[in-house]
Amino acid sequence: MTEAPPIDLNNIPKHIALIMDGNGRWAKNQGQHRLFGHAAGVESVKDIIKTSRELGVTYLTLYAFSTENWSRPSEEVEGLMNLLVEAISNEVDEMHANNVRLLTIGNIKGLPGNCYESLCKAMDRTKNNTALTLVLALNYSGRQEIINASLRAHELMQQSKISPEELTEETFASLLQTKEIPDPELLIRTSGECRISNFLLWQLSYTELLFTDTHWPDFRRDEFIDAIAQYQKRERRFGKVSEQIKQPNE
Ligand code: IPE
Ligand code: IPE
Ligand code: MG
Repeated sequence: MTEAPPIDLNNIPKHIALIMDGNGRWAKNQGQHRLFGHAAGVESVKDIIKTSRELGVTYLTLYAFSTENWSRPSEEVEGLMNLLVEAISNEVDEMHANNVRLLTIGNIKGLPGNCYESLCKAMDRTKNNTALTLVLALNYSGRQEIINASLRAHELMQQSKISPEELTEETFASLLQTKEIPDPELLIRTSGECRISNFLLWQLSYTELLFTDTHWPDFRRDEFIDAIAQYQKRERRFGKVSEQIKQPNE
């Protein structure tokens, strides 16, 4: 008898968001510098992209740098920016070959010039790819994204392009940076912290949240698949009662 597959391939979340936390603690546990942990974290990123591609996840959003992260020691910030440029230049060919499209959310114009340029180049190169969209949240703040959308809504109303009645949840969502991206079904945060840290505040409204103690550099394929298995056991009720979900016609 063959073993049942660990996950239902017909119920893979379309969009998984990840707060990649714990690089610093992982490094410290080994008596290493924090940047050693960030470099190891890049290997997990590669593994999770590959697994997402295999499983048919269509959007993967990775929280890579928050607006709050500018408050870290400058050598760490600089090291993270250098790692970003390096990772993009090393990985863009393979991403392109694997039909992966790169997008970003956050204010990437506020990143150092070489980061901004390498991101723009990689996004342009991969823009017609269709299998997996990898969304990097960089210099990202969920609150700022909502303020920006509100300012845009205000502007559209002043120009009489929309009326206040037309400002539905759907129209508002279309003013966010994630406008063409469905809300994540699943959010995973590694390293034990149970908080959102200003990530996708609007979009996570009905997302299933999953927290694991594993530090990001140790988070690889098997645990990712296990997280999807846990997601598949949850009942997403969206305000209804359980019986309505089990018998949708009653
Ligand atoms: C996450 O790991 C990576 C970034 C925020 C860029 P941390 O650097 O936050 O690791 P810890 O939380 O200090 O262990
Ligand atoms: C959140 O991690 C940001 C990223 C993963 C990029 P942090 O480690 O910065 O979060 P807090 O500040 O501890 O909540
Ligand atoms: Mg952290």
